[in-house]
Amino acid sequence: MLHGKKILLGISGSIAAYKSITLLRLLVKSGADVKIVMTPAARDFVSPLTLSTLSHNTVLVDLFDEAAWANHVMLGRWADLFVVAPLSCNTLAKMAMGICDNLLLATYLSATCPVWVAPAMDEDMWQHPTTIRNLAMLQGFGNHVIPVNTGELASGLVGPGRMAEPEDILLQIQIHFAESGKLAGKKVLVTAGPTYEPIDPVRFIGNHSSGKMGLAIAHELAARGAEVQLVAGPGVTAPARPHIQVIRVNTAAEMYSACLQAFEAADIAVMAAAVADYSPVTVAGEKIKKKEGGLVLELQKTKDILKELGNRKKKGQFLVGFALETNNEKANALEKLSAKNADLIVLNSLKDEGAGFGNDTNKITIYDREGGEHIFPLKSKSAVAADIVGMIIKKIYA
Ligand code: CTP
Repeated sequence: MLHGKKILLGISGSIAAYKSITLLRLLVKSGADVKIVMTPAARDFVSPLTLSTLSHNTVLVDLFDEAAWANHVMLGRWADLFVVAPLSCNTLAKMAMGICDNLLLATYLSATCPVWVAPAMDEDMWQHPTTIRNLAMLQGFGNHVIPVNTGELASGLVGPGRMAEPEDILLQIQIHFAESGKLAGKKVLVTAGPTYEPIDPVRFIGNHSSGKMGLAIAHELAARGAEVQLVAGPGVTAPARPHIQVIRVNTAAEMYSACLQAFEAADIAVMAAAVADYSPVTVAGEKIKKKEGGLVLELQKTKDILKELGNRKKKGQFLVGFALETNNEKANALEKLSAKNADLIVLNSLKDEGAGFGNDTNKITIYDREGGEHIFPLKSKSAVAADIVGMIIKKIYA
């Protein structure tokens, strides 16, 4: 079931590390090629000899020894999935802060594959605000947190904090790979961020969009096998990632041209950008000087990219739009669904705390053409992206 899959198992210093041996056995039995990286503290709980014997691979602990330097970059790039199980409080905190004082952490920082963590700690540590914040930070980076179980803990107390059982982790990994291939070979256009409409050489009309939502969607699509063309507005931080081609634009007109071109060959388009609705009729060649009295700018409507893609949509193409609303949310979202000929509309209401521009979280409702209304709770933008992509997959394979 996991034949051909390359899994990097990270083990940190926790009593739950004894379960990593079972997890390793299950992964190997299931056909995966497993390499192991452990923190120095993890050696006190399980022996590298046991792990290397079971995995048929050398277990890596040190960043370098006298003879060699461990190539953490290649390790992070080798894996299809990096699972840190167990994740101790200490390693969690270091991952959240970007600390890099052992090989496991260096590999984490250079991993280009999806990263999963299975926390294991005592109840009080699990419930400490620092742990809650650090886990939320990892989720914000797009990492997947495998929920803990409630039960007997190392301290003898009973409560939440037990690492998930190896059999459950294996099942989740198998489901992940079964799902992740679903978009293999699909070409997807994603837009992200604001557009800037120039007024003169130094000024523009823009908006507060950070592009984080569109970026999270692009990452999620790529993780599920899609080839993504990301048309990104100014200021969007989009580091190079496998399977994501970034096309940089500044204005609504540039985004329009880039999208029309990319849509020709696209199977799916997700329009998450906050495109300017108006742009100045004329752009002054020189900086506009301050004068007595006010200044009137004449604006003209920009082209509605989503609407144009809706007009051009061919059979087999799937179109997703967003609706950012402050009032009459549902009615406005449904109006956009039909007026722009989209297949899904993702509604963001600015009335919802934690939703919208700049935040690392979002709260969405998705409307489909069959009359469905899918309401989701407040989540990290990466978890929201997984919901949106999950809904797209559900619809295109319905
Ligand atoms: N959109 C677009 N081109 C534009 C304006 C918007 O493609 N010129 C897309 C956005 O990317 C989004 C959807 O249309 O997917 C809805 O954007 P939104 O700003 O909520 O709505 P508008 O259509 O601009 O209408 P209004 O501002 O009046 O709500």
